[in-house]
Amino acid sequence: MSNDITAIDRHARAAIDAAANPAALETVRVALLGKSGEVTALLKSLGGMDAEARKAFGAAVNALKTGLTDAIEQRRRILDAAALDARLQAERIDITLPARPTPPGSIHPISRTIEELTALFGAMGFGVQDGPDIEDDWYNFGALNIPPHHPARAMMDTFYLKAAGRNRPMVLRTHTSPLQIRTMLSRKPPIRVIVPGRTYRSDHDATHSPMFHQCEGLVIDRGITLAHLKGCLVDFLRAYFEIPDLKARFRASYFPFTEPSMEIDIAWDRKTGTIGAGSDWLEILGSGMVHPNVLANCGIDPREYQGFAFGMGVERITMLKHGIPDLRSFYDSDIRWLSHYGTSPLAPVTLHEGNAP
Ligand code: PHE
Repeated sequence: MSNDITAIDRHARAAIDAAANPAALETVRVALLGKSGEVTALLKSLGGMDAEARKAFGAAVNALKTGLTDAIEQRRRILDAAALDARLQAERIDITLPARPTPPGSIHPISRTIEELTALFGAMGFGVQDGPDIEDDWYNFGALNIPPHHPARAMMDTFYLKAAGRNRPMVLRTHTSPLQIRTMLSRKPPIRVIVPGRTYRSDHDATHSPMFHQCEGLVIDRGITLAHLKGCLVDFLRAYFEIPDLKARFRASYFPFTEPSMEIDIAWDRKTGTIGAGSDWLEILGSGMVHPNVLANCGIDPREYQGFAFGMGVERITMLKHGIPDLRSFYDSDIRWLSHYGTSPLAPVTLHEGNAP
């Protein structure tokens, strides 16, 4: 019997040493110490022996079992360390390799135009204001002198939302003009702000998108006149289009929240699309002197303060400046379009401060 033990011990240790990886070692362990393993069988055979024989043989089998368990454990540590070494070797990162080039990102033309508007009007002392896309009906229409059944509401047909706990409907704002109201209610004049942001109308074709961007402007102070409006916007248009002698025309128009109201057109050539050339006129923005009712709605005394406001489409002025033919392309996220019309995030915004005489 003790010969058996010596023989088992010898071939077991040989098998343990020969196991080349943790899985092979586990197979060896099961063959020796598992439920039907060789050593387990010896332990089971103790039951059929008489007390004397069991004592001597039992001690030897237990010593065999402890010895082999230790040997397996030791071998496992060696194999684990080797496996870890191999992984570290295989997954080594060469930090001296040059970085893999990634395609550079670019600034979307809409964002770029908003940066330019911010810089140009910033140079004229305007701050930037923003507000909610989901707007109170009163700010979007009522306070702007557009009562419930006014036809201007139909022109700006929009998306109405029922809001719990409110007696007025909410709307997706149809223009950035509600920020005139919000600004005048929250600040005292003098006020000089622009409001670039998203606006919504239920329109959808080649030149209209249900979501688009506008930039509002508002100036409120004592003694503000049409001359200020004119000077400010002509300066702005010349700076934005980078044409120092760009001709602009003020054409009488109507907005419920301004009086008088004017549409501003710039000179262009309809045939070639060249801005600043030719004898045609292109409508570019809406403007006017803030209506006394609007000032009064905001608690500002129209006899003491006057002001002007303007609003323009950001996509529109971007399309004109860069010769972009289709409005829908702004929202397609076509990577070729984006890399063609996008600008480098590192390129500074040009800051012409206007060149009016
Ligand atoms: N809110 C007007 C529009 O969306 C534009 C505008 C703004 C006109 C401010 C006058 C003054 O058409």
